[in-house]
Amino acid sequence: MRTDPLSYLDRELEQLREQGLYRTLRVLESEQQSTSIFDGRSVVNLSSNNYLGLTTHPKLRQKAIEAIEQFGVGSGAVRSIAGTMAMHLELERRLAEFKHTEAVVVFQSGFSSNAGTVAAILTRDDAIISDELNHASIIDGARLSRATIKVYPHGDADAARRILADLPSSQRKLLITDGVFSMDGDVGPLPALCDAAEAYGAIMMVDDAHASGVFGRHGRGTVDHFDLHGRVDVQVGTLSKAFGAVGGYVAGSRALIEFLYHRARPFLFSTSHPPSVTASCLAALDLLLEEPALIERLWENTRFFKAGLTAHGFDTGASASPITPVIVGDGARAMQFSDQLFAAGVFAQGIAFPTVKKDRARVRTIVSAAHTRAELQFALDAFGRVGRQMGIIA
Ligand SMILES: Cc1ncc(COP(=O)(O)O)c(C=O)c1O
Repeated sequence: MRTDPLSYLDRELEQLREQGLYRTLRVLESEQQSTSIFDGRSVVNLSSNNYLGLTTHPKLRQKAIEAIEQFGVGSGAVRSIAGTMAMHLELERRLAEFKHTEAVVVFQSGFSSNAGTVAAILTRDDAIISDELNHASIIDGARLSRATIKVYPHGDADAARRILADLPSSQRKLLITDGVFSMDGDVGPLPALCDAAEAYGAIMMVDDAHASGVFGRHGRGTVDHFDLHGRVDVQVGTLSKAFGAVGGYVAGSRALIEFLYHRARPFLFSTSHPPSVTASCLAALDLLLEEPALIERLWENTRFFKAGLTAHGFDTGASASPITPVIVGDGARAMQFSDQLFAAGVFAQGIAFPTVKKDRARVRTIVSAAHTRAELQFALDAFGRVGRQMGIIA
């Protein structure tokens, strides 16, 4: 009889169970909304990246339906063969205008935008200077490029500058940071990083996944927020979070985008977006431009919720965005906190090592423009009650 060559995976899974790190997936049984049904329970949803509530917006739905009726459900090919539709180009043109850059290329996801771009523009002779908390897609792209990876302590632009200074001036360098960090909700020190990149001739790249549709005028991102137009060579955004659909894009010079058309592997070797996705993204862009009140509401809700958590006495770290961690410390305790909140009608994901440092486990909250004050107050009351019961706050 054949022995299962994958049996070692059972042992790995057993170890995860023993360490309390085995996860079962929560199942969404309704639309992704501010209150949703997960695992049969109606809960205030503080775990989605649906910042502006666009996943269910009538205009996006309508455009998606129309696109399916007109063009069907799939693009049928990769972009570089038969899978470039007029609407793909329209979205790229509109995004470039929005971002004030020469050009944009859209990828299937934010993940493939980061990984595909970093891997394409660097070689084994080059160096990448990367924040220690940068997203996994940046780390994977860096590994794929085979460039030398130099990691600087989180948010420390002086350390990044020292690394740049130590590298040979002839070596090509990429300095890369998240605009907003996904686990802490803090913002990268972009102005100081741009100064450092310019001083040492490095390419400057920002992953604005959590800033797209959230920071800057009309949601243009952190580069706009800090008024750094023209100083960031490669800007990545997502269409999966505030934009409500799925996808990612790179904004930059025409040469960068044309090069990615020729060399970025997700662009060359993976099928392009279905028409419904592209049509939804175009509708989302219209909404960002036409309804700035959506983003204002997101920030009002963010301020209200953060103030409530702080008033309870929770440690919310250095967050400056709608992502607010409630730091508990121990991993098992964070998971228990999340479970008890869920039982109390609030879904806030527990996050532990290895996603965050061992003593910095937390539940992570994300508010959206779609939350009502009543929903947020309900969640704050639950946080207070459960937090006191568990001795997390006095
Ligand atoms: C910082 C950051 N970059 C990139 C991504 C990837 O985006 P997407 O979900 O569109 O692949 C994410 C999302 O998970 C993220 O948090």
